[in-house]
Amino acid sequence: MQDSHNTRHNIAKPNIVILATGGTIAGAVDSSLQTTGYQAGVLSIESLLQSVPELANVANLESEQIANIDSADMSDEIWLRLAKRVNALLKSSQVDGVVITHGTDTMEESAFFLHLVAKSDKPIVFVGAMRPSTALSADGPKNLYNAISLAANPESKGKGVMVVMNDRIQSARYVSKTHTLNVNAFASPNASDMGYILDGKAFFYTTPAKPHTLQSEFDVDKLDSLPKVDILYSYANDNSQVAAQALFNHGTKGLVIAGSGAGSIHKNHKDMLKKLMQNGLVVVQSSRVNNGLVIANEEDSKLGFISSYDLNPQKARVLLMLALSKTDNNERIAKIFESY
Ligand code: SIN
Repeated sequence: MQDSHNTRHNIAKPNIVILATGGTIAGAVDSSLQTTGYQAGVLSIESLLQSVPELANVANLESEQIANIDSADMSDEIWLRLAKRVNALLKSSQVDGVVITHGTDTMEESAFFLHLVAKSDKPIVFVGAMRPSTALSADGPKNLYNAISLAANPESKGKGVMVVMNDRIQSARYVSKTHTLNVNAFASPNASDMGYILDGKAFFYTTPAKPHTLQSEFDVDKLDSLPKVDILYSYANDNSQVAAQALFNHGTKGLVIAGSGAGSIHKNHKDMLKKLMQNGLVVVQSSRVNNGLVIANEEDSKLGFISSYDLNPQKARVLLMLALSKTDNNERIAKIFESY
């Protein structure tokens, strides 16, 4: 890890640490008119902070570059490093909150992971941008200002991990990327926003209902790796039974199926899953529809298919990895999905 640089200490203000991982917020290209075709994860966190001098009035800031990647390349290794660093920082009485800068593409996965494994009630806020730092009307600086203001706000304590983008505050439990390009790219399809942030001042509406952070049973501080879980789609003329078998042979312990509608799986694909489940594969049924619930029918539940409820496939995958880090008992994992 490249370590710590910026220290602007002042006793009266909260102490916030920014952990940078890359993304479009740190992206650049040589034309201010270009909002595609840029390189994500180029600028250092120091230069991002320097572009928002107003932050000096909000908090005492320290920053660390955990990674500088396009979030499509996010890995278990970075997740574990990030989680351990967040936990170590928030144990200190010198740190009041953490902000994580992140690419928007997999932000909902990383944020949900932290929501389940961070062991603190201090504020943890994820932020990114849809336009690179070089673009006309880049959204990164204002998003960053909002995120640091939110982390510095004592009212943010105990609310789990939050994502702030385009002035909207959303819970890591429910938030999802719902637009490929627009600055208003994040929504919580099965819940409302948690709140709104107006020029750094937060207005909260709700808190997440499910267990998180200090109430969560998951602890990765002593883990060096996570169980391998993959996602497969179901679709017309689905041929994924071949992929399911190959993944299982390659060490996959769990599969999340992005089923059609309320979680339906093509019969060819499903027959293979049933066979692999008898050999120990754990299968969670989710949906490729980004809204609503998936509840396995009685017959499928008896066979061992686990319901994802309102977790989309990429979030169900995060929970299944953590569940498998504790147990391979199917019933116990099904209960975990009911609870979280
Ligand atoms: C990324 O996810 O790293 C690239 C896209 C973005 O941040 O908006």
